[in-house]
Amino acid sequence: MSTIIERDVVVIGAGPSGLTAAHELTKAGRTVAVFEARDRVGGRTWTDTIDGAMLEIGGQWVSPDQTALYEMLDELGLQTFDRYREGSSVYVTPAGERIVYDGDDFPVAERTVAEMNRLIATIDDLAAQIGAEEPWAHPRAAELDTVSFRRWLEDLTDDTEAIDNIALFIAGGMLTKPAHAFSALQAVLMAASAGSFSNLIDEDFILDKRVIGGMQQVSQRLAERLGDNVFLNAPVRTVRWGEDDGVTVIADGGLECRAQRVILAVPPNLYSRVSFDPPLPRRQHQMHQHQSLGLVIKVHAVYETPFWRAEGLSGTGFSGTQLVQEIYDNTNHEDPRGTLVGFVSDHKADAMFELPADERRKTILDSIAGYLGPQALEPVVYYESDWGSEEWTRGAYAASFDLGGLHRYGMDQRRPVGPIHFSCSDIAGEGYQHVDGAVRMGKRTAAAIHEDLALNSPAR
Ligand code: FDA
Repeated sequence: MSTIIERDVVVIGAGPSGLTAAHELTKAGRTVAVFEARDRVGGRTWTDTIDGAMLEIGGQWVSPDQTALYEMLDELGLQTFDRYREGSSVYVTPAGERIVYDGDDFPVAERTVAEMNRLIATIDDLAAQIGAEEPWAHPRAAELDTVSFRRWLEDLTDDTEAIDNIALFIAGGMLTKPAHAFSALQAVLMAASAGSFSNLIDEDFILDKRVIGGMQQVSQRLAERLGDNVFLNAPVRTVRWGEDDGVTVIADGGLECRAQRVILAVPPNLYSRVSFDPPLPRRQHQMHQHQSLGLVIKVHAVYETPFWRAEGLSGTGFSGTQLVQEIYDNTNHEDPRGTLVGFVSDHKADAMFELPADERRKTILDSIAGYLGPQALEPVVYYESDWGSEEWTRGAYAASFDLGGLHRYGMDQRRPVGPIHFSCSDIAGEGYQHVDGAVRMGKRTAAAIHEDLALNSPAR
């Protein structure tokens, strides 16, 4: 049986970006429908209960500069709480030595501290000059986009530990690709999108707060407001456009929506899962092949108590070389149990997925115990977020261009094609790769469509 509906705008994807766009358009008096492939809303935000523990399987942290997300949290009546951060941090050296330290600088040789601070200042300076909105427009864009981040760092210093530690924040920590796989310009964009590189490497800034009850609620509350205009289990397979001013969007189960505009609110690596009739232009076909998601395993380990706190530790740990590159106390709001979260990125994640599940678990917990001691080996709940296996995502956290792609294609990634608009955190400037960027893109896309439609069809 087929269901054919008509709306002003149809949105493909019920993640935070698509739902924000739909919500804004509704507020402006437009009719909308949202087609979502999964049986839930939220996309890469997903708060679930695993073996009795509430876990943030996807996006969770909020930083002070993420004002678009904060406005949305306020509008939806959601509260935040502080990440636990009292006590000392742990650094694990390339030789595997565990060092407990306080303060901002890693406990490394004086020369390495100086080199790290010099690199941080250089990236801060470039981020301030280049900005997040149009990095491709800067006079140095081509130069910085045609050298890998790793090679660029190697040209600036011969201190390998400093390079590994700086690369950790952007390669393993954010883009989740090896530092040889993306450009220095892409790294500068990542830094600029958080206000500065200093912000990005400051865990007390970038990982400041979490949403009480979970980040997925942003999408769930938006979807509640949209009511039966959100269609789940509706993967979109075809977009017909170009006959007149409108579009026809066809999903599984005979669901079809005729609209004036469509918003493709999915990450760029999934655009080609949809057939466009007529096909998208050559430029988009090419560009979308140069944008890919990274890979990271987000590891959750829940303990009867946050045992590290009793030892004066914050639960924060870093290493530019170990398997688990960073760990944090991720205990839920007012939860007596203690939760740790750790991250295993790119090549290291590949190697882990070669192992049987029990061996992978043991290897990862061994690495976490390298920071916090043997008590870390016995969690009561253990879970690995595996977004690479999710058909409707295929990686984590988000998309970035390959070497040279940002200055070659970036200026066209947000440009609509006829009635087809693009909206997701992966193509945001400010808030790039974050829920904040998803919300910003949703608002921006909704405003552009509303303005465009207002010229020939006033809102009802
Ligand atoms: P998103 O991917 O969320 O939504 C797209 C939706 O489109 C999905 O629901 C998908 O199912 C749907 N879809 C795809 N193809 C479709 C089709 N053909 N038809 C219909 N529907 C389709 N951010 C942050 O701010 N703080 C953080 O701490 C983290 N941490 C983090 C950890 C992990 C493990 C991940 C995976 C991600 C994060 N993030 C994050 C990133 C954050 O989650 C991400 O930026 C936003 O969820 C992106 O929202 P979008 O709406 O742009 O895409």
